[in-house]
Amino acid sequence: MAGNGLFPFTDEHESIRQAARNFAQKEIAPVAAEFDETGEFPSKTIKKMGELGFMGIEVPEEYGGAGMDTLAYVLALEEICKVDAAHGTIMSVNNSLFCNGIMKFGTEAQKQKYVVPVASGKAIGAYSLTEPMSGSDAGTMRSRAVRQGNEYIINGRKSWVTSAPVAEYIVLFTMTDPEKKHRGITAFLINASQPGFVRGKKEPKLGIRASATSEILFEDYHCPLEDRLGEEGEGFKIAMAVLDAGRIGIASQALGIAEAAYEASLAYAKEREAFGAKIGEFQGISFKIADMKTRIEAARLLVYNAALAKERAKKTGERFTSEAAMAKLFASETAMFAAHTAVQIHGGIGYSKELPVERYFRDAKITEIYEGTSEIQRMVISRMELGLR
Ligand code: CAA
Repeated sequence: MAGNGLFPFTDEHESIRQAARNFAQKEIAPVAAEFDETGEFPSKTIKKMGELGFMGIEVPEEYGGAGMDTLAYVLALEEICKVDAAHGTIMSVNNSLFCNGIMKFGTEAQKQKYVVPVASGKAIGAYSLTEPMSGSDAGTMRSRAVRQGNEYIINGRKSWVTSAPVAEYIVLFTMTDPEKKHRGITAFLINASQPGFVRGKKEPKLGIRASATSEILFEDYHCPLEDRLGEEGEGFKIAMAVLDAGRIGIASQALGIAEAAYEASLAYAKEREAFGAKIGEFQGISFKIADMKTRIEAARLLVYNAALAKERAKKTGERFTSEAAMAKLFASETAMFAAHTAVQIHGGIGYSKELPVERYFRDAKITEIYEGTSEIQRMVISRMELGLR
């Protein structure tokens, strides 16, 4: 077990890590390439992951979850992503962007209605912040919710919503008072089976192809007052706080991809021969192995450190914004570096769909983009360091 005694791993952590590893190797590995090729949503394996408790790892058992801590969550996610990042994306959105936000900001009735089905794996959850004209600058959204008596009428278009083609429930951020800018954003819980909710065009993605992503449209969707998450105008802060947790998930996803790329490269460097020697004996390859290993170990420390910071925050209420941003920034750039290097070490066969390294390469890229680009993470970290916010 990594961590070198620095982290308080327990038998429970070891057992969820093993369970995730076994599941990923037995159930996901045989189908990962096929789902990547077709871009179909892997409903069967996702359902089984729900039954094993992977869809609400930190959610207390009384709300349908596994009742474990953040370290357990990142260890399990890392193992799943080591085999297939697309399954990891679906798992991470259910856990950190959907259940986590409602557990933190929701009412008891909202937890019962929305967290229980998603944490227990019976339904899929999604999180919708981005719009066609509002990505990194998340405070500038154009979709609107207008209050009428005891409900809100929602209209607008949201984009890049992970799991939207299949999600039953969605945490939505939309503008209730445009004059107040980010302070005029409010969060709502959306039921996709209600009239006025329309699933839009599916994105034909480079990587994590089995995780379905699409636009969603609201056409006079009636949202009852009891489905507003938090108070009016609190939406931006809720979105940001939830993303702090989400970024730790993406960091562990990136760590898993990097490890997979590294392990494939190490095995290949020991086995492949050229110029009368194993290629690992040449410095051109061995130094790449050294750099991959070093960056992965550093990423691992940042990821587990961020998980501990989030765990501490459950008691202190302190923010873990910086720890999460640093973990995501470093781990995602490490995933891209490791996957890029893995393709290079493998040469021609690394560029072929016969091996999964080309999939690691395509999957790694998204970790530098979603839940805040690397540039946004640098902005978040530097603003906090410089006291600019
Ligand atoms: N926790 C709590 N509050 C926070 C916060 C945090 N982490 N970050 C900011 N806030 C608060 C600030 O304190 C401030 O509060 P006041 O109104 O009281 O002053 C308010 O939010 C506004 O903060 P900023 O002035 O820093 O806001 P900004 O407009 O400059 O933007 C930003 C900050 C960091 C750039 C932010 O817009 C951001 O993170 N952008 C990236 C968005 C993103 O990650 N999108 C991905 C969407 S999800 C996805 O990828 C799809 C999917 O399905 C997975």
